[in-house]
Amino acid sequence: MASLPPSCMRCMLVVALLVMAMVTRPAAAKLLFDQVELTWGEYHSFFYMDGDEDTLALCLDEANGSGFASKESYLFGRFDIDIKLVANNSAGTVTTLYLMPEDVPWEYHDEVDLEFLGNVTGEPYTLHTNVLANGKGGREQQFRLWFDPTEDFHTYSIVWNPKHITILVDGVPIRDYKNDKPGKKPFPTWQHMRLHGTIWNADQWATQGGRIKTDWTQAPFFAYYRNLRVTPCVPSAGVPWCGAEPAESTRFEEGMDAAALQRSRDKHLLYDYCRDLKRYKDTELPKECTQG
Ligand SMILES: *[C@@H]1O[C@H](CO)[C@@H](O)[C@H](O)[C@H]1NC(C)=O
Ligand SMILES: *[C@@H]1O[C@H](CO)[C@@H](O)[C@H](O)[C@H]1NC(C)=O
Ligand SMILES: *[C@@H]1O[C@H](CO)[C@@H](O)[C@H](O)[C@H]1NC(C)=O
Repeated sequence: MASLPPSCMRCMLVVALLVMAMVTRPAAAKLLFDQVELTWGEYHSFFYMDGDEDTLALCLDEANGSGFASKESYLFGRFDIDIKLVANNSAGTVTTLYLMPEDVPWEYHDEVDLEFLGNVTGEPYTLHTNVLANGKGGREQQFRLWFDPTEDFHTYSIVWNPKHITILVDGVPIRDYKNDKPGKKPFPTWQHMRLHGTIWNADQWATQGGRIKTDWTQAPFFAYYRNLRVTPCVPSAGVPWCGAEPAESTRFEEGMDAAALQRSRDKHLLYDYCRDLKRYKDTELPKECTQG
């Protein structure tokens, strides 16, 4: 790891160094710097070169968090990115990766959400996931990561096609959310979305139910992102767009390793809305939980 500026405020220098470094890079490599734009807190986040990898350091301090979004938006695709989470005491902080459409009213709000909930030093991060469509969500699942996500970069992936949303960690599927009850279960099917990443303070609820607050003496907090690979969905021959793939086609069923998914759930699942009987004690469980 290249040495990092100790403070958020040295970002301008680093940006200048990055621009110089980019001039000498091979033209073929895609730079995160070109693929995304800073959307929030840009005054204290920065890009830097770590060897060959242009890396984005998102910063959280007491005044603000920060965030980025992909410049392009996509209607179905696969998104892979490498993230290194906040080291040491990250309690109260949340680092995110999510897909979301541009400013739409809440009744059209779609989202595929990954939130990494920080913890005190030595205690494990939690990966919280959710899917929303047309303003409806509540499909939370949480996982414990099986490695220390603050020590090194790991690849987090969202595969979004008309039939499935699959979340993978280092290529291992941990969640498969199916579009098998059209109209009965939220599933984003029609809007372009951009990929976002953010870091923010959520110490009201994030760590051990909100009991542990952000220790601002440890600030600024950094989360690092790099190596974004976007693979837009390419429609089958003769099909105008991926959403028009014939219902009988098995194309979007391919490549799912069901055994690996089951192993991940058995080992790493912490919370599943479908098993939360307390939450649904006065109402029925969502239909997909009880009907196959
Ligand atoms: C924090 O972010 C908000 C929203 O982007 C912005 O209005 C505000 O000026 C930022 N605060 C600082 C200290 O820059
Ligand atoms: C985390 O703690 C280790 C050991 O105390 C220290 O060397 C390192 O600089 C800390 N990292 C950050 C980002 O504060
Ligand atoms: C933090 O660590 C505690 C103790 O190991 C654990 O119970 C909790 O689930 C962890 N994660 C969060 C987000 O609080």
